[in-house]
Amino acid sequence: MQDEVLITSTIDERETEIENVLRPKSMEGYVGQEKVKDNLAVGIVSAKMRGDALDHVLLYGPAGLGKTTLAHIIANEMGTQIKVTSGPAIERSGDLAAILTNLNEHDILFIDEIHRLNHNVEEILYPAMEDYTLDFIIGKGPSARNVQLPLPKFTLIGATTKAGNLSSPLRDRFGVICRLETYSVDELTEIVERASNMLGVKIEHPAAVEIAKRSRGTPRIANRLLRRVRDYAIVKGHSEIQLSDAKGELKLLEIDDYGLDMTDINLLKSMAQKFGGGPCGLETLAITVNEDANTIEEVYEPYLLQLGFIARTPRGRVLLKKGYEHVGLTIPKEKQEQLAIFENNENE
Ligand SMILES: Nc1ncnc2c1ncn2[C@@H]1O[C@H](COP(=O)(O)OP(=O)(O)OP(=O)(O)O)[C@@H](O)[C@H]1O
Ligand SMILES: [Mg+2]
Repeated sequence: MQDEVLITSTIDERETEIENVLRPKSMEGYVGQEKVKDNLAVGIVSAKMRGDALDHVLLYGPAGLGKTTLAHIIANEMGTQIKVTSGPAIERSGDLAAILTNLNEHDILFIDEIHRLNHNVEEILYPAMEDYTLDFIIGKGPSARNVQLPLPKFTLIGATTKAGNLSSPLRDRFGVICRLETYSVDELTEIVERASNMLGVKIEHPAAVEIAKRSRGTPRIANRLLRRVRDYAIVKGHSEIQLSDAKGELKLLEIDDYGLDMTDINLLKSMAQKFGGGPCGLETLAITVNEDANTIEEVYEPYLLQLGFIARTPRGRVLLKKGYEHVGLTIPKEKQEQLAIFENNENE
């Protein structure tokens, strides 16, 4: 059992290491997200001209779209230090106080998974973000008093996959709020080609496009698939990654033309066959496909929603026409009309 834990952690560490190598360091190397980049560029230029700290920035969007990468790029562009921590890592308000008092003027504090901060810690953050002060109480009972300590003027960059879980007082304290979008095939192709370059391997353009098409709009997945396809090409004795390598490896991985894997397919099929197309609850669905509900919600669902294969309704998830078609099943007669009305309303 212990061995297993060790092995997983080594793989995780290697993944993180490779991810760091592939991270672009500047805005030029950061592909896509034009609106976000424009928005940030204005803030950065203005802060630099004023000789001031950048406004607090909130980055949100699904996993693997480049939030951590962007936080490091902002620090590079500002020419400041970045301290990295995460919501669950800050357990007590004292931990956050220690981090804040150790910052230098204009430093960036990056808090990943900021929606997981506990309430006491969050309360310390409000005055720190707004007035750059640390508010705390010394003593107990009648002799207790409020103490305020000035903090250096810093920039908080918060990242979250679940903006909806952020309390509104916290959200309101961010001057710049950026939502990262999934990437187009063209953008992902560029990311794959750049990453191959960084890995020192050549790749045919059609092979890069093939990887891009099957990466669910996500750079992290594109980079991961690229490395698997590169290994396949090496085994085949190719000095340049070819389209046949991409197709061959993706077939082995059981990833279909849309980038869906067995779990996605099981999910769609279960919805059709076990729940009559829905609506069905997330938890029940998760049990049926033997996955954790969080993973379904954060990893699988966003892409299926984006493809228009499923929809979320107040009563649960429903399978849409495109979803039925993708797994080669027909919509039951009694459902057809209901679904058509629903999809019509959705498109309006
Ligand atoms: N716009 C981009 N251009 C090029 N590469 C990118 C871009 N965005 C992300 N990547 C690559 O994708 C990988 C994952 O990005 P990153 O770790 O920043 O995602 P994240 O949004 O922080 O994910 P999580 O929510 O899991 O923390 C990085 O290694 C980086 O190389
Ligand atoms: Mg991250």
